[in-house]
Amino acid sequence: MFYDFNPKKPVLFLAPMADVTNPAFRFVAHGCGADFTYSEMIHSDGFNHGDPYAKNRGFSIDGVPYGVQIVGSDSELIAKAAAGLEKMFSPAAKVIDINMGCPSPPITKTGCGAALMAQDFGAENHPASIIRRVCEMIETPVTAKIRIYNDDEKTLRLAKSLEDAGTSAITVHGRTRGQMYSGNANWEIIAKIKKELSIPVILNGDIVDEKSLQTAMDLTNCDGYMVGRAAIGNPSVFRRLKFYLENGEPANMSQTDDFSNRVDDFNRYFFFLQKYDLLPHVNIRAHAQWFTKGLPYSREMRLKINDLHKDVRIRHFSDDELAEERSALAFEISGIFAEYNEKCALEYGKIGDNASF
Ligand SMILES: Cc1cc2nc3c(=O)[nH]c(=O)nc-3n(C[C@H](O)[C@H](O)[C@H](O)COP(=O)(O)O)c2cc1C
Repeated sequence: MFYDFNPKKPVLFLAPMADVTNPAFRFVAHGCGADFTYSEMIHSDGFNHGDPYAKNRGFSIDGVPYGVQIVGSDSELIAKAAAGLEKMFSPAAKVIDINMGCPSPPITKTGCGAALMAQDFGAENHPASIIRRVCEMIETPVTAKIRIYNDDEKTLRLAKSLEDAGTSAITVHGRTRGQMYSGNANWEIIAKIKKELSIPVILNGDIVDEKSLQTAMDLTNCDGYMVGRAAIGNPSVFRRLKFYLENGEPANMSQTDDFSNRVDDFNRYFFFLQKYDLLPHVNIRAHAQWFTKGLPYSREMRLKINDLHKDVRIRHFSDDELAEERSALAFEISGIFAEYNEKCALEYGKIGDNASF
């Protein structure tokens, strides 16, 4: 098993998120309390053709527990990519996850992500056939991340077929492909899947705080709970969830503590992006906007961040120029954080350590 699941202690997962869960973000989220993390999705076809970005996406910093996620449409090509990624990242990567739930049209249009769930049972590229083929090719455990159908019976049949095919655990995002990210996640069907399967079941969708976590636990008794959007710009959500699981009550965190953690987390994130040469691959402006949401002077900071390099027309850049531009932007953003850190410290007391790592 890729993780030591314990029925009395649910595992907190950071969801795989494209353009978010790079190695530096995973490192910070793990430091905050995420037990296990997943990489951004890596496209099987791109990887098989030597796409250089996989090496920036698929590694882990200082032993942070993680899995590498693959997205693709064809069982043979996914299995080939799995073998290559295993060679590149094993044993650090504890698991290879197959994305069967991404609903975004550029992905589904090419038969990938949630489009796999439209395949007929038994077809070569049905999710279960893919898991079977990948398990034949690699030693590393394999997991699947799915959405649900409108039809509960069909969802249960899919989950069972994945278990029979050899998946070590299954993550279920309780929304249909058509829902994209709207409406509420359906946790009732996840409870049924948990009852039906013997492998660990990880619930995903709408875990945002202690209350939603407790409600999901009471309803489903799942082995793990995966957090996506609530962690964007706010990996500190795992501090609260971890504290809650360990102590049975919410952390007594003041607003100042919360601000302070957010700023420290951003500084730490920025430091590791820089250290591992990830700045050129990250939209740092977007990340900085996410991290400042809700902070004192947030509006002022965001306007300043928005204004930086406003006239630069990135789409005309070569890769090297883009890397240089993003690094320069990142340093200026870091300066804005430091400036507001000082301003806040005067007003609210200590905010952030301005930690130098
Ligand atoms: C920006 C963004 C990127 C995402 N990228 C991926 C991805 O690469 N692979 C994947 O399986 N799901 C991806 N997802 C879906 C999340 O993993 C998760 O299933 C979804 O956000 C529901 O969980 P939540 O309600 O906690 O956000 C992405 C979601 C968002 C918001």
